[in-house]
Amino acid sequence: MTRITVTVDGSTFTDDVEPRTLLVHYLRETLGKTGTVIGCDTSNCGACTVHLDGRSVKSCNVLAVQADGHEVTTIEGLAQNGELHPMQRAFHECHALQCGYCTPGMIMQAIDILKDNPDPSEDEIRAGLEGNLCRCTGYHNIVKAVAAAAKAGE
Ligand code: FES
Ligand code: FES
Repeated sequence: MTRITVTVDGSTFTDDVEPRTLLVHYLRETLGKTGTVIGCDTSNCGACTVHLDGRSVKSCNVLAVQADGHEVTTIEGLAQNGELHPMQRAFHECHALQCGYCTPGMIMQAIDILKDNPDPSEDEIRAGLEGNLCRCTGYHNIVKAVAAAAKAGE
């Protein structure tokens, strides 16, 4: 076992983990952060996307030990003082979900896109989301939501 200390959604946790434990399993099974979901086991779907030191990563592709000493934000850490994050609000207002399974990862990735490019074109949004799959194929409203959040200056 290896001892790690990670800040997740603003709280610091110290735990002993197997060196092979994936970050997504640590988040879900040790910390109970089940808002981050697993859609594949091949790093393809993006459902498990979180932020590691402010940048999006697929948490099924990162070892928990790699997060030692770092800061992780999950979908559960976005709302502040009971207020949804503007990207969450945009997804809600644009009906950018069907079953909702891909939504946590989509939102985390969408926030990351706007960090680099606050005013993306539709093509740039689609390219930025290409690592995130929606089995319900609800891409049109997802792209609309990201554009709406960008327009709102988020
Ligand atoms: S569960 Fe991580 S990419 Fe699919
Ligand atoms: S809304 Fe169902 S997978 Fe995207």
